[in-house]
Parts: sequence; C-alpha cells; structure tokens
Amino acid sequence: MRVLLTGGAGYIGSHTALVLLDHGHEVVVLDDFSNSSREAVRRVEELSGSRVPVIEVDLADRERALAALADVEFDAAIHCAGLKAVGESVAQPSRYYRVNLDSTLTLLDVMRERGVSKLVFSSSATVYGDPAYVPQDEQHQVGVGLTNPYGWSKFMNEQIIRDAQAAWPELGAVLLRYFNPVGAHPSGRIGEDPSGIPNNLMPFIAQVAVGVRERLSVFGDTYPTPDGTGVRDYIHVMDLAEGHVAALERIEAGVVSYNLGSGTGSSVLDVVSAFEAASGRPIPYDVVPPRPGDVAEVVANPAKANTELDWRTTRSLADACRDTWAWQSANPSGYGA
Ligand code: WQD
Repeated sequence: MRVLLTGGAGYIGSHTALVLLDHGHEVVVLDDFSNSSREAVRRVEELSGSRVPVIEVDLADRERALAALADVEFDAAIHCAGLKAVGESVAQPSRYYRVNLDSTLTLLDVMRERGVSKLVFSSSATVYGDPAYVPQDEQHQVGVGLTNPYGWSKFMNEQIIRDAQAAWPELGAVLLRYFNPVGAHPSGRIGEDPSGIPNNLMPFIAQVAVGVRERLSVFGDTYPTPDGTGVRDYIHVMDLAEGHVAALERIEAGVVSYNLGSGTGSSVLDVVSAFEAASGRPIPYDVVPPRPGDVAEVVANPAKANTELDWRTTRSLADACRDTWAWQSANPSGYGA
C-alpha cells in the first residue's frame, strides 16, 4: 500500500516508515518539522534504499494542508503527527487541543473526500487515566481522571475517529494505545531526539550516559512497587513500529483499539541498571519528590493484539538500552543542527 505517514520524521514515525518500507509498502511522509528533523527522513532513505517523498506542512493548518495534499495519492494513513509533551500540554492547553484535534479533523476530511478508508491512529495508554487495575486491557475505562490536555486530546481524537466512522461505515480505523516507547533502530542511525530537556526517562538517562546531562532525578522511591520507584511497560520502538504494520495489514471496517506493550513492568531503577550494563557508563542519580500526576504502575495486557494482530514484542529492555546507547553515543546531539 501507499501510506501517508503523518509525523513521519518523528521518533515513532521514522521507525514506522522504515518497517513499512521493509514490508514492501510505499511511504509518503507529511511533517511540519516543528519537532523533528529532515535528516531523520534522509536516514530512513539511506537505511531502506527507498525514496521517501516529503510533504512539509502543518496538518492542523487546514487550508495549507488541503493544498499540499491535493495531488498526493495514498491508500491508507498512519497518523502520528501531534504534540506529545505532557507537562507542556498543561501550560499550553489551547495549542495542544488545536494542533492535535485539528490535524485529525483535516486528515479525516481528506480521507473521506478521496475514499481512503484505512487509518491507523497513534493513541496512548494515557487515555486509561489512573489505572483501576494492572495490567490494563482494552476494556479498562477510558477518559476518566485524565490529568493533562495531551491525554485528553488523545481520548478526544479516539472519539472523533469513532464518530467519523459512524458517519462513514466504510472507514476502518485502528487505535494503537502505546505504553512507553523506548529504544532505537539497531543501526544507531535513527532514534529519539527530544528538543530541550527530555521529559521521558530513557532519553534523559541516555543523555546522562553520554555526558550531556549531569545526573538523573528519580521522581520518588516510596511507591508501592518492588523498589519504590515507578513501574512502566517499556516497549522497543521497533516492536511498536511492527505493531503498526500488523494493524495496517489487517484493517477492516469499524474501529478497534489495541494496547501495544510488552506486558512486563520495569522500575526506574531497573532501567538505570539495564542502561549502565548496556553502556558501561555510570548513571548517577538523586531521589527527589514524586512528579505531580505520576502513578505507581502502568503495565499493558497485550493479549488482544497478540491474538488478533498476531503481533507481540520480541525485544527486551536490555535490547532497548543497547540500541538507545548505539544511537545516543553515535549522535550525542541527536540529528544535530
Ligand atoms: C517513566 C517513569 C517517572 C523521567 C509519558 C506519557 C505517555 C507517553 C510516555 C506519549 C515514571 C520516571 C521519568 C525522569 C524519572 N508519552 N522518571 N525521572 O510518564 O510513564 O509516560 O511518556 O505517548 O503518554 O504520559 O513516561 O518516561 O516520563 O516516566 O524518575 O527524569 O520514569 O516518574 O515512573 P510516563 P516517563
């Protein structure tokens, strides 16, 4: 299939582009490069040996996006474009709602107009809010007790897609609820390149290991977990990318959600130890008070995706640390200026 991959220059997008190409699909990247680099697309071309056309536009700018897509043929869309920093969303709610919702509304209008009826949406375990039970399956309540506009925008986008499908029964949409994506392509040529101070644990640890940051702050060690630090389900980005292709190739009319996670929880200190083993570098840290909004444990029950998509994670936390280190040590400044 010829896939329009929005946000295709980003962390998830670039790895998904590579797996799509490896599976024989064609990829057209749409990105405004507000939080990503053209170099990522160039390296995807280098790794795949394929050309990847790029449409540089803000998908939330309806007029410009419609004009930019006027002559672009595609059979399906994978929608990764959006703002994703939890803390930033609290400070800039209108920007987050406008960008994250308008981009989806524009994409759905273009797809309906062109009769493109296959959509994979980059959703998040954040839609579950505080876990009522762990591990979480897709039956877990959603849209209750969400604590930030980023999470609400993911939940609202899921609703927007359900309503679009109710009005257009031919639409087939898959909502992929990511747990904690980590790692990089084993070549070390593409990886996570957050702008500014990383919000997420793995990129922060990688920057400590490579010397860009001094010390890690561990956000609390009094949670009801084995070592007191927060437990999360870290999924290798290559497994995540493969989950997108598995979903795309099985799309049927209707809307279905899947958890993309390993089903295994790892604590902050587990990640620190794993990264020290992978990099051979010490990760000095200080324990500080818990981060507001954090919960003790978030772990996926991935059984539905395992069964219905015939997909499961195959890479470990150690693999993710090894591959993150390969990326970070070869690219200390990310994709660079
Ligand atoms: C992981 C653990 C922190 C940083 C968020 C979003 C989620 C998704 C993934 C987009 C927690 C601890 C972290 C640090 C720390 N994003 N931590 N020191 O919060 O589970 O999920 O990112 O889809 O939607 O909510 O990920 O990596 O920020 O935190 O101790 O410097 O590491 O307390 O226990 P999180 P995270």
